[in-house]
Amino acid sequence: MTPGIKPLLAGNWKMNGLAADLNEVKSMISSYSPALHSVVDLLICIPATLIVPACIIATDSGVHIGGQDCHAKASGAHTGDVSAEMITDAGAGSVIVGHSERRTDHFETSETVRGKATAALAQGMQTIICIGETEAERKSGVTLNVLKKQMDGSIPDNWPEKDELGEVVIAYEPVWAIGTGLTPTIADIAEAHDFMRKELIKRFGERGAKTRLLYGGSVKPGNAVELMAIVNVDGALVGGASLKADDFMAIANTYSRIN
Ligand code: PGA
Repeated sequence: MTPGIKPLLAGNWKMNGLAADLNEVKSMISSYSPALHSVVDLLICIPATLIVPACIIATDSGVHIGGQDCHAKASGAHTGDVSAEMITDAGAGSVIVGHSERRTDHFETSETVRGKATAALAQGMQTIICIGETEAERKSGVTLNVLKKQMDGSIPDNWPEKDELGEVVIAYEPVWAIGTGLTPTIADIAEAHDFMRKELIKRFGERGAKTRLLYGGSVKPGNAVELMAIVNVDGALVGGASLKADDFMAIANTYSRIN
């Protein structure tokens, strides 16, 4: 946690979830008490097909609904893609861009990710930009260089200058920790997040000091307290453990214990 920054717990359902699974969203909402709301923001990034019904369910609940990707363009001949404008039109105010599964499966470069982030921010969206090293990069000692390159390449330059633009959130997700049950050591996460904070302040000044930095990769109820207590870890991006309300809300409740 960083003093003065409200943490954000974001779920990433990936390509999981049918209409019946919105019951999990209902359960999350019903256990998101005002006391919990005051210590942690809650966001669920769900498949595009579920955004409209999820937003209806989440109206006035304090739980935010987001998408998992957007195109850099507002509209046009891009079969299968969804624009930032379409996601906001469906009711969601947040989106993930540059997740490692998109960087790998869809060959997205940091330049592509920057285009998507620019489009999302122009819509006033909360934009979660993902970065993270592979196992080979960590083993060869180049993790911080990789993070710097991905941050420099993926975060739009014009973000701090215009107040009407949406919020940038950075999620550090080591590729080798996603869905594997493995997590870096506390010291390694602290080192990465301290580095990210310094780089953001260098580039964006005061706004970089206030940017929320999430950790993602095998976050579970069992390890959330120690991960979320690390300085400069201002929340989590959670995949597998966000699918079930019991797990996700157990992670959310750790913020009451840390505070
Ligand atoms: P995981 O996924 O929590 O299942 O490791 C995290 C993510 O990919 O965002």
